[in-house]
Amino acid sequence: MKVLNHNLHSTEFYCFIQVAAAMLIRYSLDRWLFGLDNTGDVTKSLNRKHIVQQAKENLGSNIRLVTADGSLDCQLSPSEQEMIVYPLILAEVHIALSLLAKSGVFVLKMFTLFETQTISLLYLLNSLFKHVDIHKPVTSKPGNSEVYVVCKCLLAEVSDNILSLIQSALDTGGPLMSLSEIPRSFLQQVRTAAAKFKDMQEQTITENMSTYGTQVTFISNEKYAREYLSRMRLKPIPADQSVVVMSYPRTKPVKVGDNFLTA
Ligand SMILES: C[S@@+](CC[C@H](N)C(=O)[O-])C[C@H]1O[C@@H](n2cnc3c(N)ncnc32)[C@H](O)[C@@H]1O
Repeated sequence: MKVLNHNLHSTEFYCFIQVAAAMLIRYSLDRWLFGLDNTGDVTKSLNRKHIVQQAKENLGSNIRLVTADGSLDCQLSPSEQEMIVYPLILAEVHIALSLLAKSGVFVLKMFTLFETQTISLLYLLNSLFKHVDIHKPVTSKPGNSEVYVVCKCLLAEVSDNILSLIQSALDTGGPLMSLSEIPRSFLQQVRTAAAKFKDMQEQTITENMSTYGTQVTFISNEKYAREYLSRMRLKPIPADQSVVVMSYPRTKPVKVGDNFLTA
């Protein structure tokens, strides 16, 4: 079950991605939830309630896996990324913990791990799940700060008190608890992880700057798309192996360079 904010961006830059996303949604509309106001915005309490209710109705109470990959464009204030995405991450955690059955797994995308808000959220997850690991998979660009928090084996169904605590933090934007309430050994582990991921990112950015210089070169999206298609040797997925069931005639293919993308 996927949840996303389907507000379409207006710039040409996102046009191609929007077309592909719109085609995917069109062919799998019955598997999407957009919340009560139909915006898909999970930071709104009414949408979260609606999504949780609908997901339980559709999937039953034994939900074993929730993934959350939300992010926002922070290019204009990269140094604020961690706090800009915090309400979205909290909202995703609120939904996941409202849905997951005992022993369930939650995978959450986060970014840098410096702020009290982030550290206290990690501590809460660490208290609720048997194992919590933070990964930077090879498929994640080394030059960005995204990491994946993998929480395995929820110890017990999450109580209303915990959900209310998260709701209060969502209302205020503050941390779930103060750092003084968190054991020093846990703070040390987060500090070590935060420094390691920061070092990896810093090293990649430094290497990129020495390779490409600091001058920004604009290469057309079409050129990138063409290069990607050729390097990855992408081929159409045979109809019988497609995840999305095609119940409509295929739409006109979108041309990217010399290649066509169809849904
Ligand atoms: C990295 S993309 C996720 C892509 C997704 N995993 C996929 O395969 O389509 C981040 C997504 O977070 C969504 N997002 C940002 N703010 C949101 C919000 N308040 N509520 C719901 N989704 C949001 C964005 O619209 C974007 O689609």
